[in-house]
Amino acid sequence: MTAGPTHEPIDAVRYIANRSSGRMGIALALEGVTRGWHTTLLLGPVSVSTPDNTNLAIHRFRTSDDLQNLLETHSRECDVLIMAAAVADYRPKTPRTTKMARMDEGMSLELEPVEDLIARCARDKRDDQFFVGFALESRDELESRGARKLQSKGLNMIVANPLETMDAEEIEGLIIGSSESQSGVEQVPPDTKESFARVLLDRVAQRLR
Ligand code: CTP
Repeated sequence: MTAGPTHEPIDAVRYIANRSSGRMGIALALEGVTRGWHTTLLLGPVSVSTPDNTNLAIHRFRTSDDLQNLLETHSRECDVLIMAAAVADYRPKTPRTTKMARMDEGMSLELEPVEDLIARCARDKRDDQFFVGFALESRDELESRGARKLQSKGLNMIVANPLETMDAEEIEGLIIGSSESQSGVEQVPPDTKESFARVLLDRVAQRLR
């Protein structure tokens, strides 16, 4: 499981980030442990407390580069990868190693794209591996954009959740690729992230049977 935002450095003390709290990915990791799954959590820079469970292996990352390096190893070893981390799409092209001083005139920051990490992992995915992504979308485009990302990233399942669920107590959304519904699209009503984690791992387990 991956959880949390990435911090992409601008200079020695500043970075670009997003509002991801990491709570969904942490709930998934703890639910995995509860089920007796050998679970590894790749955890970003979050302000919630780090889960304290001796059966959970935790590796920390800060930038998308750090996460990519961890995924190089762990995505090969796992049976299931659930990518709840909110990875940056862009990062500063030339981060400064010193602290930039204040200037009176404006400034612009050149950004470069970050590779799509889960799509990259999925290119080397074995048939016996199961990869799940998340897609944060506006409500009117949940299903269409979620389904497109499932295809384009080469995933087995995707959770399409509305923008408001980022950094929120509860989550709701569509599980695309669920065998619970004939269409493959299951609507999960608003509930706690812990309860959503139970539903999602049930659906993953059903597909692995
Ligand atoms: N993701 C990733 N690497 C990135 C960006 C996103 O692996 N550089 C993963 C996320 O962890 C998530 C999925 O891709 O599982 C979808 O992320 P999302 O931000 O919804 O979509 P993007 O592909 O970034 O597309 P867009 O921002 O255009 O909606």
